[in-house]
Amino acid sequence: MSNNTFLRSFKLVPEISRPFLWSSLIALTGSGLRMVGPQLISRGIDDGVLKSDYQYLLQQSFFYFITLVLLYFVASKALLAIGLVGESYVRSIREKLFKHLASLDINYFEKNKTGVLVARMTSDMQSLNEFAREGASSVITALLTIFGATVAVFLVDVQLAFLSFLILPLLGVATKIFRNHADKTYWAVREWIGQVLSSLQEGISGVRIIQAYADEKSQFNRFKNINDEHLKANMQSAKNIAIYFPFLEITRVTSIAVVIWFASLRISEGTLSVGELVALLFYLNYFFDPLIQLSFNYDLLRSAGSSMKKVFSILDEEPVLSTMGSQSPNMESNNVIEFENVSFSYGRETVLHNVDFSIMKGEKIAIVGETGAGKSTIAKLILRFYLSTEGDVKFYNESAKDVSQRWARKNIAYVPQESFLFRGTIRDNLIYSNPTKIKLEQELSEIGVLGWFERYENGLDQEVGERGSNVSAGERQFIALLRAVLAKREIIVFDEATANLDIESENSILDATDTLLDYQTSIVIAHRLETILNAEKILVMRDGKLVGFDNHENLLSDNEIYKDLFSAWNLSS
Ligand SMILES: Nc1ncnc2c1ncn2[C@@H]1O[C@H](COP(=O)(O)OP(=O)(O)OP(=O)(O)O)[C@@H](O)[C@H]1O
Ligand SMILES: [Mg+2]
Repeated sequence: MSNNTFLRSFKLVPEISRPFLWSSLIALTGSGLRMVGPQLISRGIDDGVLKSDYQYLLQQSFFYFITLVLLYFVASKALLAIGLVGESYVRSIREKLFKHLASLDINYFEKNKTGVLVARMTSDMQSLNEFAREGASSVITALLTIFGATVAVFLVDVQLAFLSFLILPLLGVATKIFRNHADKTYWAVREWIGQVLSSLQEGISGVRIIQAYADEKSQFNRFKNINDEHLKANMQSAKNIAIYFPFLEITRVTSIAVVIWFASLRISEGTLSVGELVALLFYLNYFFDPLIQLSFNYDLLRSAGSSMKKVFSILDEEPVLSTMGSQSPNMESNNVIEFENVSFSYGRETVLHNVDFSIMKGEKIAIVGETGAGKSTIAKLILRFYLSTEGDVKFYNESAKDVSQRWARKNIAYVPQESFLFRGTIRDNLIYSNPTKIKLEQELSEIGVLGWFERYENGLDQEVGERGSNVSAGERQFIALLRAVLAKREIIVFDEATANLDIESENSILDATDTLLDYQTSIVIAHRLETILNAEKILVMRDGKLVGFDNHENLLSDNEIYKDLFSAWNLSS
């Protein structure tokens, strides 16, 4: 983890710094206590064993026992405290991410695959969690023990301390090299395991196609190659460890050998006691053991660090649209939506070219055109999910740039191409926009669809399952449409939202919009003739250009493109 990530991780959740300091303090006490043991042994040897004073030896042993008991309590308290800090840290990060993601522009979710974002919330959180639970406490304890051991070695004997740490620069260089290699292989392993998983997934979810084309063999070969690469990367990782650990062991033994050599000279001179030598040897082990521990935890630390970086990359994403604009337009005006020479691009090519039209209050507009003509893009601009690249979209004469996000969300309802239901009952989903105000049964019977729900065993209280998976695609769409209607927004946009419905259900919904709100302005993107005939005016799109805007009769008599589209629908229906 680079310093930057480390510091930022702390700043992100300031409320944990106090518990973190507190738990580190406990851990520090623990490593202090650990350093007492060798001192007692040292005294036991010098003044007990060597002077045959067994009473004294017994006394020191008793002290040692007490220290161990104390150490047990302090160490377990420290582990618990650090673990708790880690867990609450991860919880708080997850909350922050969730909140932040919900505030981002729709744009962001189209650029980034849902799968990747879910991975941030799950696998990256998982690796942070693992680190919090297992890594953090051992890393902190290890660091503090190394620190304590270094101080203790110097307290015993400064000259020998310098001698024993003479080898440290070499250790530093070796560690640096190990880290560089470990980083590289870490990424390689992650990359290849990702490939292995996606290849497995493709092999399973595409099994019908694979078998239909008798492609099992080449699929397997492709998988085998990837799997072999993964093995190679893992072998490299094992090799790094296989070189580094023996090196650590050699440094440990060398520095112990150096200490014993010089200590024996000092003992014969009478400037060092045997007990002090034994204590030194203990402390040197206390120094090297956690180092080994740390390198074992290096991958945990590494993946927590990289997960943290990815979390930051999401948190760095600033919402633009939700903070831009603060006006609530005066809704008295009759000009509900105006596209003034609007051109739009998602980033590369221009997908809308100089689109110009206006929609008056209460109008029902249909948008038609071939696949990819730009219909959904117009809907997204009306929803203020995006701002136009050139020209202007106006709501009640107010530019979309100046209109507040809040106003747009409160006044424009939307039913997307894929209807989405939340887990819960049909009722929960229908009253989603305003749970306390909607008198559900009354309003449903007013618009004449209350009977529709009798098909369910539990009526309106039927559970729809995750993402609405327990109801049929058409029923899901019906509920999603009703939800938008019950939200009673001034403007309502349906993006092919009726494709899965039978004509009867569709009509009852469209009639419902009339009954409930006769001034409501609606924009319907549709492929179906009946829906289009219902509209007062039709926007005809082709290749991002507006090529007609009139009622059905007029378009049919003098718009060639519309005539073509119309005869195609006529044939299919
Ligand atoms: N998120 C996006 N990023 C980049 N280009 C996009 C994006 N969404 C749509 N496009 C492109 O913009 C053009 C218009 O797309 P749009 O979704 O508006 O078509 P559509 O008329 O709704 O088509 P369909 O009938 O298939 O739904 C297409 O060429 C499409 O490839
Ligand atoms: Mg579309």
